[in-house]
Formats: sequence, structure tokens, C-alpha cells
Amino acid sequence: MLSDFAQVVEPGSRDESLLKLVAWDRLPRHVAVIMDGNGRWAAQRGQPRVAGHRAGVEAVRAAVDTGARLGLGALTLYAFSTENWKRPRLEVDALMRMLKRYLRLELDEIDRQNIRFQSIGRTAALAESVRRELTNAAERTAKNTGMTLSVALNYGGRAEIVDACRAAIERLQTEGRDPSGLDAADIERGLYTRGLPELDLLVRTSGEMRISNFLLWQAAYSEIHVTETLWPDFRRAHLLEAVVDFQRRDRRFGGLKLVVNAK
Ligand code: IPE
Ligand code: IPE
Ligand code: MG
Repeated sequence: MLSDFAQVVEPGSRDESLLKLVAWDRLPRHVAVIMDGNGRWAAQRGQPRVAGHRAGVEAVRAAVDTGARLGLGALTLYAFSTENWKRPRLEVDALMRMLKRYLRLELDEIDRQNIRFQSIGRTAALAESVRRELTNAAERTAKNTGMTLSVALNYGGRAEIVDACRAAIERLQTEGRDPSGLDAADIERGLYTRGLPELDLLVRTSGEMRISNFLLWQAAYSEIHVTETLWPDFRRAHLLEAVVDFQRRDRRFGGLKLVVNAK
């Protein structure tokens, strides 16, 4: 809601002018972000890649705060893919340490903003100390009724579809249904994002024009907004720009009639 920004937006700022462009009755229900470009941000400054990840934490805070104030139903952040294990051990360890630190520092604020936290992905493969923080954050915020913040960790879109198919087959067997009756709803029920609103808007930073195995099923009809901004430089205005851009799109979902971006 506009009033939720009153305390945090400077009069005359770019944030304020963008907020005036937002159509409040047509917000995207679910926004997902591929947070990319940390390494390049660091390289531009002659710093190690890890410095880029550290700087990226401030961008996460800005995105979460903005999403909550906008009143999004869901914000999903791609933090670590099933392919990111290919990176040097030191970088992976640093990312996991930063995630734990982020959760410890931000949990009070997340809870105060009525945000429900969850992690999505094959999180069982993460270190026990990481899982502990994730469980704690999810449990503490489970009853919150505002935006759902999902952090994708050891997440892969293909892995998610495989997991959903496995769950669907198991359910079919227990229910004694014929496998030929398997349908999209059966698979959707097993996705990590079950219960979340439709993914309306997928944002990627750093100018890369690819999905990199993120939300393959859910992105079927999402609008895609790519910004050249590197993730550590991403702030409130960048998310607002993405929302305003989304609201200018004609969504047809394969039909012919213009569908006004729905809420
Ligand atoms: C995104 O930034 C963060 C993660 C993938 C964890 P990158 O680390 O991919 O940064 P670039 O793409 O190398 O610049
Ligand atoms: C996607 O970024 C994964 C995350 C943002 C967590 P990558 O940097 O891993 O993707 P590619 O390698 O450019 O496709
Ligand atoms: Mg990258």
C-alpha cells in the first residue's frame, strides 16, 4: 500500500515518482527474482567474488522490504541453484555463512513485517547448521499472514518437477488411481510453491537473458523483466520499475483478448 511507504520514501525521490505510477489494484501477485551479477560487481571493483555476495545482502533487504510494503502475495528469491555447487568450495561456504547471518540479523524485522518465511529446493542436502536457521525462521513466521518470502536454495526447476512427479505417482498409487489419469493439478500439488499465487513477474538482474533452471513450471506465462543493474546495486526503485513495466504488458495467455494484469 502507498501509505506503507510514507516513512521510508524521500519526497521528490525517484522512489516517490515511481510509486505514483504503480496501479495498486493490479499488482503482480507473485514476483520472483534471479539475483545475478554479484561476481561481476566485485570484479568491477577489483574485489573477490565474495565481496559481491556480501554487498548483495543489502539488495535482498531492499527487495524484501519493498515487496512487503507493496503488499505482494509472494516474493521468491533465487539464492543458490542445484548447479551452483560447481563453484569453489570457499565461495559456496561463504554464501551459506551469509545466508545464516542474514537470517539471524533479519528475522525480527521479517516477523515484524508479518512476512511468512520459507525455503524451497532440495534443502535436505544443505549443512545442518543452515537447515537449523531455515527451520527456525519458518517456524517463527509460520502464522504470519502477509507476504510469503521464499528463498530458493539448492533449487533447480527440473529437480522440482521431478520431485513433484514422484510425489504425484505416490499419491496416485495410494489413492488407487490409474496413472494415465495424471494431470497438471497432480503435479502442481507437489511443487515447492504449492499454495503460492501464480508467478506473475520474473525479474533477472545483470542483463542475462536466461532462466537458469528457475521456476520452469511456474514461469509458463510469467512476464519477464531483465535489468542491466547488477544485484548488489538493486534497490527499491529497481523493483518498482519492474512492477511498473509489468503493468504495461498485454497478457494474452495464448488467447486473443488483452487481459489486464490481474489481481
Ligand atoms: C549471483 O551472482 C549469486 C549467486 C549465483 C549465488 P553471481 O555469483 O552469479 O555473479 P556473476 O554472475 O558471476 O556476476
Ligand atoms: C542463477 O545465476 C542462480 C542464482 C541466482 C542463484 P547463475 O549465475 O548461477 O546462472 P548462470 O550460470 O549465469 O546461468
Ligand atoms: Mg551469475
